[in-house]
Amino acid sequence: RIKPCRLIRLEQHIDPRGSLSVVESGVTVDFPVQRVYYMHGQTQSSPPRGLHAHRTLEQLVIAVHGAFSITLDDGFQHATYRLDEPGAGLCIGPMVWRVLKDFAPDTVALVLASQHYEESDYYRDYDTFLHDARSLT
Ligand code: TYD
Repeated sequence: RIKPCRLIRLEQHIDPRGSLSVVESGVTVDFPVQRVYYMHGQTQSSPPRGLHAHRTLEQLVIAVHGAFSITLDDGFQHATYRLDEPGAGLCIGPMVWRVLKDFAPDTVALVLASQHYEESDYYRDYDTFLHDARSLT
């Protein structure tokens, strides 16, 4: 498995009214949630998303509706996850290249992030990422 990443089961409260899923800073994720964003409007012909890594940011990704695939790459190994239920989340640590694709129609991909948006935290170039991921280890 990719070292700083893991699939977690979220706390869920299910009763006749439906289901309620919970994410708490310091409980579900060990980082403070500083930013929330969500991706939607993808179609089967949309190009992949992601194609970046973060230097320090951590995040939790949840398919709150629909489904999509995420491939993670820490510079040494790859792992692909299919997120297809709102009761699960994928924690992605720093220095992990990710590609999101194969979105089911009407998918909403929710991301809880440990930092505000800061372009300088991104690797957008795979070769630069790979070089640093391999030399920092
Ligand atoms: P981008 O990073 O390309 O999306 P992804 O890599 O997840 O496919 O983000 C799309 C655009 O939105 C890009 O111009 C940067 C901007 N953006 C923000 O301004 N704030 C944010 O919190 C995020 C995630 C993106």
